[in-house]
This record gives sequence, structure tokens and C-alpha cells, in this order.
Amino acid sequence: MPSSVPISVSVNGRPYTREVEARLLLSDFIRQELGLTGTHVGCEHGVCGACTVLMDGEAVRSCLLFAAQADGAELRTVEGMAPSEDQLHPLQTAFRDAHGLQCGFCTPGILMTMIPFLEQNPHPSEDDVRLAISGNLCRCTGYANIVRAVMLAAERSRGGPGGDPTIEPRGVSAATVATAASVEAH
Ligand code: FES
Ligand code: FES
Repeated sequence: MPSSVPISVSVNGRPYTREVEARLLLSDFIRQELGLTGTHVGCEHGVCGACTVLMDGEAVRSCLLFAAQADGAELRTVEGMAPSEDQLHPLQTAFRDAHGLQCGFCTPGILMTMIPFLEQNPHPSEDDVRLAISGNLCRCTGYANIVRAVMLAAERSRGGPGGDPTIEPRGVSAATVATAASVEAH
């Protein structure tokens, strides 16, 4: 097998053609070759979910793929979420409004995991969301507010009353909100 291979990918709508080492991980390609450091690397063996990106619309762990395997693919990273420089993606807005992040290390991976999840599940229950993020580790243990943020984004995407972040989104129990508030207070 040659030590380097040519690849062509689209990342956030922009085409790139590069010669890469055959063993180069996709996560390292994205971060080091393309400078898109919003994709984080935690465990580097498929456990934490921090490196999640979209490949042809599906959430994948970029630390488990070689860059060469992405040849011809359309990739989307957290840098490509927002529709414009002065506008956030609705999920990003919901995470901001519902305090869905603390240090933010896990956030890009969770956001990229939630994009296809919400596309396929526009009416998720809180349990659905918990299951969907079960492969994403948050070292700040901010799960209560992460779930709340995803529920808020889902509610807003359905035209619900979530425009006011103080309004409790449907499906989020008072207990969850109380837990989230207590987490924030510590
Ligand atoms: S860095 Fe890829 S799953 Fe942890
Ligand atoms: S917000 Fe810190 S790791 Fe999740």
C-alpha cells in the first residue's frame, strides 16, 4: 500500500484536495491539515464522541476513520453549522439559551450528533435524547442541561413556545429543570 494517497473531500461546502499519509486519521486531517480545530479529540479510540463530524449526513467518529476513507465524501464540522457569521444554528442557540455547556469540550461532538438525530426525530422524548447522547461523554457532567437544550431546539423547530428560554420546553420535567438549576448553582 502506498504511504500517501490523494483525497478529495468537501468540508462545510468547500472542496479540498490533498495528498495524505495512508494512516492519517480523519480527525487529525480535519484539525491539522485543514485547521478546523472545532472538532475535538479526547479518547482517540471511539469512546468519548468529542470528534464526531457528519460524513455524507451521518454522524461518525473521525478518530475511528482514516482520512483516505473520506475520499469523495461531504464532511460537515461544527464550523459549518451556522448559516452565516452573524447567525447561529438553532441547536447552538438552544445550547446557549438552556446553558447546555460548561467548558464546551464535548459540545461540538454533541451538536454534530444531534443534527441528524433531530432531523430523524423531530418529536423526541427526554429518554430519546438521553439515549442519543449516550455515546458522548461530558466531563463536566452537564447532561441535564444538554438534554434540556436539545428538547428546547426540538420544541423551537416545531414552532413551539421555546423562544423564551425561561419557558419550560414540552417534555422537560420540572424535576429536570430543578436539577439543571442546582447543577448551575454549584
Ligand atoms: S476522540 Fe473520537 S471518540 Fe473520543
Ligand atoms: S461541557 Fe465540559 S466536557 Fe461537556
